Amino acid sequence: MDREERRRLRKQGHEDGPLLPAPGMEEVGRYFNAGNFEAAGEILEEILSVDPKNFEGNFGLGLVRAAEGKAAMAVSFFKTAAAVRPRDAEAHFNLGLALFQTGEPEEAAAAYRRSIEIAPNAATWLNLGILYQDTGDLAAAASYAKAIDINPRQAQAHNNLGNVRAQAGDREGAIRSYETALEIDPGNAAARSQLNAARARTIQGWHLPMLADTARNDAYEKAITQAVKKKKGAHVLDIGTGSGLLAMMAARAGAETVTACEINIPLADIARQVVSENGFADQITVIGKSSEKLVVGKDMARPADIIVSEIVDVGLLREGVLTTLSHAVQTLAAKGAEMIPASAEILAVLVEAPALRRVNPLSEISGFDLSAFDVFRDPGYRKIFLANQEHKLLSRPFPVAAFDFRTFRPGDPNHFDTLELEAEILEDGAAQAVVFWFELRLDEETVISTSPASGKTHWGQAIQFLDTDIPVCKGDRQAVTALLGIQEISFFLPVGKKTN
Ligand SMILES: C[S@@+](CC[C@H](N)C(=O)[O-])C[C@H]1O[C@@H](n2cnc3c(N)ncnc32)[C@H](O)[C@@H]1O
Repeated sequence: MDREERRRLRKQGHEDGPLLPAPGMEEVGRYFNAGNFEAAGEILEEILSVDPKNFEGNFGLGLVRAAEGKAAMAVSFFKTAAAVRPRDAEAHFNLGLALFQTGEPEEAAAAYRRSIEIAPNAATWLNLGILYQDTGDLAAAASYAKAIDINPRQAQAHNNLGNVRAQAGDREGAIRSYETALEIDPGNAAARSQLNAARARTIQGWHLPMLADTARNDAYEKAITQAVKKKKGAHVLDIGTGSGLLAMMAARAGAETVTACEINIPLADIARQVVSENGFADQITVIGKSSEKLVVGKDMARPADIIVSEIVDVGLLREGVLTTLSHAVQTLAAKGAEMIPASAEILAVLVEAPALRRVNPLSEISGFDLSAFDVFRDPGYRKIFLANQEHKLLSRPFPVAAFDFRTFRPGDPNHFDTLELEAEILEDGAAQAVVFWFELRLDEETVISTSPASGKTHWGQAIQFLDTDIPVCKGDRQAVTALLGIQEISFFLPVGKKTN
């Protein structure tokens, strides 16, 4: 059909009543699909020159202008189309898309909502979600969820929901969404890279250095192997299995069965995969739960003969080792069960550490007063490698606290014991910090020490700065007070209190 013929038919059609469909629309579709927007636009403009309120003409020209990147023009055509047919969901949807392009999010959201009222649709909910997400509106998650309700196979909605969840700090939810997006669309590169990033953030930074700490791994393997060999048919419980490493050591040593629990669900899922890939799926059951939620007879067939764990931070207590192991001994262990580790001790030393002191607390840096920034500093302890820091050891190491995990029973979780300790001063100086570490007794033979003197472990040492410098002299016996809670320890030096 040539241009003249179209014009003739259109004129006739217009005079005879509304054009449905307008002559030439098939050609418009062909041009549009071939990316020839100019030719498609020309025909549509001809239609509108005869019948400015023609729905197809306005709707089609809206699509053409949007495809050409002329969003403001597209808005005007979609508005006319939506006015001509107020119950046309697609007109409102496309108006929403174009308004979003022109930077009018509120009007765009209204157009999407109108479209949804007329005909709820996964693509519209998805785009409403994108709009909300773009404007930082928390309603984004609910919109993506609606899109998924209508079409559970819409990979982009799962992926975008993953992004909203990741932004809200829901790492596990984000990982589940990305995994679903990838199940639906395995080639979805965005979901793949976001899943990798979310998984990397799931594990704390210390997991990899910990796994690279071969002295730690070897010490555990030695103790685990000996314990398993001593107990024929042993059932082992690995609390906080992480990658599954200690559970697999137990299985390799010949444990009959191993229950490996891990509170971090994405970690537990991967541990299950690791266990299976190493051929231990028949021996090891990985459970994504806190040990404190395990039930004997349900999660584990029988109480454990050996309880293995490595849930200690640089200061020993913050990962909750005392409560966790006390609970495990009382509810998950067979009578006389072995504990690896069996006990631990915290030791400490007074140090002068002038370089670190400059930022503990924060005061003047490069001539500026940064003391207000000190609110962001954790006044408790943190990890250092003492050997890498400028420091002077001022005292002999002194014992702080010892715990036998087989018998320790926590009391009031809010209670802090006050421990009156004493440090024998070996050097004159200013006591600025307490450096402390632990000795973890795995069994009668094997001890892991994180002391500065016993070589590098991934744990390093804990350092806690004192509020003020305390001058000490060689030969003094300096009083030190420790406040010991179930998951925390802190130190201070009573000013002027020498015990000699
Ligand atoms: C320091 S990592 C050790 C991982 C692994 N056992 C190893 O030695 O390579 C401790 C792990 O225990 C988990 N965890 C801590 N307390 C737990 C508990 N009560 N129940 C289950 N998992 C726990 C943490 O999420 C973390 O992944």
